[in-house]
Amino acid sequence: MAVLIAEHVSKKYGNTVALQDVSLELKQGEILGLLGTNGSGKTTFIKILATLLAKDSGKVEIYGYDLDKDRNEHKIRSLIGYVGQDTERSAYARLTVNENLRFFGRLRGLSKQEIDERIEKLCAYFDFASNLDKEFMRLSGGQKQMVVIMRALLHDPPIIYLDEPTKGLDPIVAKKIRSFLKEYVTEEQKTLLLTSHNLSEVDELADRVSLMYKGSNPLLGTSVDLKKELGIKEFIEIRKESLPASVDEKITGLKTVLSRVETDPEWVSFGVSAFFEGIEEIMRVLREEGIEVSFRHRSVTLEDVFINCVGVLDEKFDH
Ligand SMILES: Nc1ncnc2c1ncn2[C@@H]1O[C@H](COP(=O)(O)OP(=O)(O)OP(=O)(O)O)[C@@H](O)[C@H]1O
Ligand SMILES: [Mg+2]
Repeated sequence: MAVLIAEHVSKKYGNTVALQDVSLELKQGEILGLLGTNGSGKTTFIKILATLLAKDSGKVEIYGYDLDKDRNEHKIRSLIGYVGQDTERSAYARLTVNENLRFFGRLRGLSKQEIDERIEKLCAYFDFASNLDKEFMRLSGGQKQMVVIMRALLHDPPIIYLDEPTKGLDPIVAKKIRSFLKEYVTEEQKTLLLTSHNLSEVDELADRVSLMYKGSNPLLGTSVDLKKELGIKEFIEIRKESLPASVDEKITGLKTVLSRVETDPEWVSFGVSAFFEGIEEIMRVLREEGIEVSFRHRSVTLEDVFINCVGVLDEKFDH
């Protein structure tokens, strides 16, 4: 069941086109990852879906409520939990975590008992009970982010928007937040829309991904399908320092080599549609040239899909 339907949403800031005809559906219980280069419109789109920003045209329906026609804004907002990109300013520095959560719970119109129950439940999910009496300003970046997420979940919203929830966090804390989120969303059957520039994070969490590009969203699907569509099965990688430019060029020109990318400063990646055929062809060139190289191989990642797609779109846009 679609719990959110966005159709042909467009938005300009003055002369800057931020969104152009974006359509998207969120299904109950799914996690959707919104990817895109800086300035591609992710935050603008999420803010519109969170009723924090007005769109110029298009239509958004959340649980059947039309954001334009239904005047029951309170009801619509109660269905949404939103965490923006600015963590520091999302809670009071000198209040404790507990005081912050209670204050925002009361703002939401929750009773004392409801607030108690929610804080207890969220602290269990986020393993946070031991920090409740600490002042917000004394928490680490990761702990602050958890408080801000808990704040957004206090009123138990069925739809959650998180704009770069693990930005600036170390990999261990980021992983912790991901696993808490996954558990919460799965067990409580919530629907989550998140943005991130960490593509392996999105791959790990999201059921579907949508790529935004210059205000539109040309790519939408499961990570597995998008990887399949890329047509590349594996990447055969050769250490750059062991590969003369002329040989690099020869390998790039092989029929079995579908792409050449450098996602790692020390390695050149050649995308092939079939591993054995690819490696045989590359070996043949290396034998002919009489050189030895260091090899490794890896599977296709969401980052490959992203880089390829943005590259193709950039080319289309430029011509
Ligand atoms: N308040 C604003 N006033 C004017 N232009 C804006 C404003 N907010 C965003 N924009 C412009 O709208 C476009 C989309 O910005 P947006 O913040 O939605 O992108 P984003 O995908 O969230 O980027 P990032 O990955 O950097 O967070 C950009 O061109 C940006 O410069
Ligand atoms: Mg943004």
